[in-house]
Amino acid sequence: MDSFQGIREKICVIDFGSQYANLICRRIRDLGVYAELYPHDTRIEEINLGSVKGIVLSGGPSSVYESGAPEADKRIFDLGIPILGLCYGMQLIAHLLGGKVEPAAVHEYGKERVSVIKDGGIFRGVPGEFNSWMSHGDIVTATPGGFEKIALTSNSEIAAFEGKRIYGLQFHPEVSHTEFGEKIISNFLEICGCSRSWRMESFVEDSIMQIREKVGKGRVLCAVSGGVDSTTLAILLREAIGDKLSCIFVDNGLLREGEFDGVSALLSSIGVNLIKVDASSRFLARLSGILDPEEKRKAIGDEFAKVFSEAAEANGPFQWLAQGTLYPDIIESSMAGKLAAVIKTHHNVGGMPGWMKMKILEPFNQLYKDEVRKIAGLLSVPDSMRLRHPFPGPGLAVRVIGEVTSEKLNICRKAGKIVEEELIAAGIYSEVWQAFAVVGDDRAVGVVGDKRRYGRIVTIRAVSSVDAMTADWVRLPYEVMGRMSGRITNEVDGVTMVTYAISSKPPATIEPQ
Ligand code: XMP
Repeated sequence: MDSFQGIREKICVIDFGSQYANLICRRIRDLGVYAELYPHDTRIEEINLGSVKGIVLSGGPSSVYESGAPEADKRIFDLGIPILGLCYGMQLIAHLLGGKVEPAAVHEYGKERVSVIKDGGIFRGVPGEFNSWMSHGDIVTATPGGFEKIALTSNSEIAAFEGKRIYGLQFHPEVSHTEFGEKIISNFLEICGCSRSWRMESFVEDSIMQIREKVGKGRVLCAVSGGVDSTTLAILLREAIGDKLSCIFVDNGLLREGEFDGVSALLSSIGVNLIKVDASSRFLARLSGILDPEEKRKAIGDEFAKVFSEAAEANGPFQWLAQGTLYPDIIESSMAGKLAAVIKTHHNVGGMPGWMKMKILEPFNQLYKDEVRKIAGLLSVPDSMRLRHPFPGPGLAVRVIGEVTSEKLNICRKAGKIVEEELIAAGIYSEVWQAFAVVGDDRAVGVVGDKRRYGRIVTIRAVSSVDAMTADWVRLPYEVMGRMSGRITNEVDGVTMVTYAISSKPPATIEPQ
């Protein structure tokens, strides 16, 4: 559970299902302190308390007075460690320590002016009035005994409280719309006595130490896909455990072109043993007849687990299977806690099947892609790999709508390559988070060389994003779209029409399946 036992100081952020929970961690990390998200039902025994300098209770959609509302392990209040509750987190402190929480007469959503009653402490260096961002329907109407109110708004008498190094804020200091939000979080870190010496470099050093400690004399099989996350992980593991590392690259028949070449050149240049398994026909056979996207993802995850296990038997023994899983993969698969909904099951999340003998090692499972790209920079991963667009583990299978067939895969692969090539030619590849081609079963009548052709429709998807949690469609220049369309219909057999996807995430997701 505790990913970084080796970290010298950290803040635990307890997640009650807020959209912003991981953003709190991000802000704290940006201020030089390692922060990690924990599900609300984490027991204090599961946390390495020696390094914990402070605890943040996140917001969340529930009401504390409803039955079944999520609570934290109450013993956190006896630890003497500073605690900061935000929105639901504040209400939970009030509820658990004898204050009162009620439905608010006026719901506050969006911008609200906060007036500070008591400056200093959490409000040190913050003006007497500032704009904050709120999103709540409940309100604290009585502070717990020994606490005092320290801020108000026109609708609420208690917009912030403090007592015994425990603080509650009704607003969200972690969102960029709250003025002085960063200062308030920084004040909390001061109160916690953090030295603020954490940098990405420290993450790399701490991870190396922790991986060595965890793995001991064991051997690790690291699954690489050609993407930045797994490649960076392989390089980090090489640094940590040297030749106790082997990597495995599975050709599942669902890859972009040239995926193996880049990763194999890079890993062999640093002496990593790379096992290549051609499993394309068994993956395609397994996917035959499956139409449902979740079923597809689960079949691929399961097949990967089988291939990894077989390769581990043949080349092992290996005690650990390492994967480059990131935080967004976990939250979308609803593994971040029982409070988040399943959006899609990422191929590498959800735990490996019970029969899998290897233990899982996922050092990046609290990070976002841009943070992994920073680590890749520190480990001198070449830019061509570091800045490559993300590619999903289930590969082209989630870009083929409906049944995965060789014909549709071929169209998807060739059309996707054209999309990438045209972005590079236009000099805008790195401005786009991800761009690719999608193919389904819809067809359109075309006319080629005076003959009728009933071909496939290909959809181009190009999105901008910072962390894949939300995304917008990119307003590509018409000329670029025109060139992509012309080349796809001319160069890819069986395509008669090209369309462009203009949905953001939400309500759509980035990959169509
Ligand atoms: P969605 O489609 O959920 O994707 O908006 C968010 C980001 O995650 C990638 N993605 C995956 N990555 N395994 C992965 O390693 C998966 O199963 C998976 N599904 C989606 C997607 O390409 C995008 O960058």
